[in-house]
Amino acid sequence: MRVPLLDLREQYAALAAPIRAQIDEVLATQNFILGPKVDALEEAVAGYCRSPHAIGVSSGTDALLAVFMALGFGPGDAVLTSDYSFFATGGCIARVGATPVFVDIDPVTCNISPTALERYLGESCHRHEDGSLRGPNGETLRAIVPVHLYGLCCEMEAICRIGEQFRLPIIEDAAQALGAEYPFRGASAKAGTMGAAGTFSFYPSKNLGAAGDAGMIVCQDKAFAERLRHCRQHGMEPRYYHHFIGGNFRLDEIQAAILQVKLPHLDEWSAARRRAADIYREEFTRLNLTDSITLPVEPFRDRGLTNHHIYHQYVIRTPQREALREHLTRREIGTAIYYPLALHEQECFRYLGHGAGEFPEAGRAARETLALPMYPELAREAQRYVAEAIAEFLNQGATT
Ligand SMILES: Cc1ncc(COP(=O)(O)O)c(C=O)c1O
Repeated sequence: MRVPLLDLREQYAALAAPIRAQIDEVLATQNFILGPKVDALEEAVAGYCRSPHAIGVSSGTDALLAVFMALGFGPGDAVLTSDYSFFATGGCIARVGATPVFVDIDPVTCNISPTALERYLGESCHRHEDGSLRGPNGETLRAIVPVHLYGLCCEMEAICRIGEQFRLPIIEDAAQALGAEYPFRGASAKAGTMGAAGTFSFYPSKNLGAAGDAGMIVCQDKAFAERLRHCRQHGMEPRYYHHFIGGNFRLDEIQAAILQVKLPHLDEWSAARRRAADIYREEFTRLNLTDSITLPVEPFRDRGLTNHHIYHQYVIRTPQREALREHLTRREIGTAIYYPLALHEQECFRYLGHGAGEFPEAGRAARETLALPMYPELAREAQRYVAEAIAEFLNQGATT
């Protein structure tokens, strides 16, 4: 049996007619950039996330970049983030000229460790006489960027408390977590809405995927939302008057129109992903594999939240990751490694001077994590086949 990591065709087939009608409508108007479809998508995403403002942009990467540019981050600044994320999180900090300050992860969730964050701020930083918070090399700390990896929210209660204590805004990289909920201050909050701003990616393989690149920013403050709208058009307002340097971070109408058709289905897709995660757990338990591989955790499952995890990725851990992956490839099962290096291990960040093993949990996650097939339409038989292939590998003594 062939089981791909991700298969988008069934989802598209179910929505092909309304998607094509929307594309035709845009083509008929010849209005391609930042038009009524973008406005409508922004309103729909703001409503879905229960956020006062949403700003459509060209990708999840540009969402981060626009936020950092709009906040004026630059040389001499430093921004704290998880050492284990997609490159864009650290890359965008560096692109604006600031220094990425990596923080190790919680080994259980793979999300940024609040303990490590607090330790770094408490032990390595000091308050300068001008009131700013300074790092060990004198750089000014400007923000904390937690990343809700794999569709599970970070420990936002602790992170926001640390943010308040050290007077640092929180920018949530929610690229993988649109719709994920967290039990925040006695209620449920959606990923992206607990800090000053949150960023999303609609890359085609994301849980809400466009037919190309697209992204969104949500934020709490009206004036900041306005600044972001200017930032996505080169800091321009009115036309051809530029108050600050932004970029071309515009979202196009066709992507917005497609996303608007798909958004109302997102919660049912997330529920199907959670069901698939339950089936994996059942199968791994039935096959007695739960001592040999580490399954993803659901720390907020019994907290009264619907989308306590949205399983953007289903990621297991094993020290035999490479051999298991080879075995699954031979069985025609798609897998992926998100991510094979921690950010501090990337060659382009060598200039930061981190030693090997400096963030041990991120380094270990990079060597042990393996994403298994996960998408809403994944069939139970396919999951059983995946689980049995893993059992076959482990029962044969992990030699092949
Ligand atoms: C955590 C994280 N941040 C940022 C991005 C960047 O999003 P995009 O690919 O839309 O630029 C991604 C996309 O994979 C991501 O997973």
